[in-house]
Amino acid sequence: MRPTGLGIAVLAAWLALAVAACGNQGIAPIGPSGGQATPAPGGVVRDYDLVAVPAVVELKPGLKVQAWTYNGTSPGPQLTGVVGDLLVVRLHNLLPVGTTLHFHGLDVPNGEDGVAGITQDAVPPNTTATYSFRLTQAGTYWYHSHQDSSVQVDRGLYGALIVRPRGSSPAGVDQVLIYGDWSLGLEAATPPAPSDVLMRSYVTTSVNGLTGDAIRPVAVTAGQPVRLRLINTGHTIRYLQFPLPVTIAAMDGHELSGGPPTTEAIPLGPAERVDVTFTAPSSAFSIQLVDGFLPDAYAAVPVQPAGATGPAIPAPANHGVLDLLAYPARAADNPWPDGTAPNKTFSMTLSEQAMGAMPGMAMDGVQYQIDGEVFPATPTLHVTYGDRVEITFVNRGSLVHSMHLHGHFFRVLARDALPLPGALVKDTVEVAPGHSVTIGFLADNPGVWMIHCHQLIHAAGGMMALLAYDGAPRLAQLGGAFGNSPD
Ligand code: C2O
Ligand code: CU
Repeated sequence: MRPTGLGIAVLAAWLALAVAACGNQGIAPIGPSGGQATPAPGGVVRDYDLVAVPAVVELKPGLKVQAWTYNGTSPGPQLTGVVGDLLVVRLHNLLPVGTTLHFHGLDVPNGEDGVAGITQDAVPPNTTATYSFRLTQAGTYWYHSHQDSSVQVDRGLYGALIVRPRGSSPAGVDQVLIYGDWSLGLEAATPPAPSDVLMRSYVTTSVNGLTGDAIRPVAVTAGQPVRLRLINTGHTIRYLQFPLPVTIAAMDGHELSGGPPTTEAIPLGPAERVDVTFTAPSSAFSIQLVDGFLPDAYAAVPVQPAGATGPAIPAPANHGVLDLLAYPARAADNPWPDGTAPNKTFSMTLSEQAMGAMPGMAMDGVQYQIDGEVFPATPTLHVTYGDRVEITFVNRGSLVHSMHLHGHFFRVLARDALPLPGALVKDTVEVAPGHSVTIGFLADNPGVWMIHCHQLIHAAGGMMALLAYDGAPRLAQLGGAFGNSPD
């Protein structure tokens, strides 16, 4: 099946035929639930169809990968809305396996969270599921599969979701740059099994689905305000170097103020978003990756002012790395004003244990543990509506872990028990080996929610846990007729 270039209408028609042909198998899957049906007063309905479908994607001339896509492209279409709008997304599954949609960073009603085995069943092949909820938070978010996510996100099932504040239109240039990575195995006509080492050899970095010289320049006009929304959908921290000072305007969608411009390389962890702002200069430059990995040079993004003449702004010879958690800016929507005391505190100890590849083990033969256990044996954090919850992630392993909480945003309160200079609000936070990070949030969104590492192979290897509200039903179970497996 090679639907590249086919219209959405054709795909949807296929789906209708496929559904008619295969009929009903008897057990109805549990779908998304509990969402709203109408926009807030003054809002509109934003209606999208996403067809999850295999497609051959060309990352640059001559480099093709066997991707899984939304509507034939990876990233999938950008979803956009305004606070107060109703987002309606119909997911049509033309993959050979079950899938879901998760809206990363949005505090949706629990039943709309798209986590297979926790909030719904995986959407079976040749069926459709509809997600519907109000947009309540402005900012840079993204969507991705949350069924077998370490495989499905790796193959390309993700896209950007941008929510704008009510009553403001963006001035100047406002553009998304999605950093993804592709494994060597996907270049084969028939990709090997996910456990094959080729499938973990991430040799190509793409920006908005293109690599090398195929990456599209950002077009600007000298003097214009520019906002670039950087999203990392890949599996490792990337370091992005701008050769001119930029301001960190938002992290994980949460708008910041008071932060100084920086020329240091910006760390962008798995699933994290950083919005940078600057005034367009009159000379061209490029945004470089400075990870020190082989693909770096092939993922530079040119920024091209109209009519620029003269030499490009050179990349700095040396660079420092920005300490993101120490960035002294304050989020407007801080859920944890200074002086707030928790009434519930938890700690979660992160570690890894090499086991050697064994059947049923993580794909890389490592157990990624929370408090010495792997999911679903990891401890569940029990909270009550209204709790002020503090969690300390203690990393006793040797790898960075990118801890993500569903359903809530949090303030990053402390690192190694020392308070941080800013008031940063995030949904995913990097915890370096040998360090601890403390977060605080309000328990104001009842349900059963995931907490997990967003290096998805670590999640698949066990580094996941649940946050459960007293009295909230768990909407779906692992395994079962639909093979539910969130990681
Ligand atoms: Cu990006 Cu559990 O999610
Ligand atoms: Cu991890």
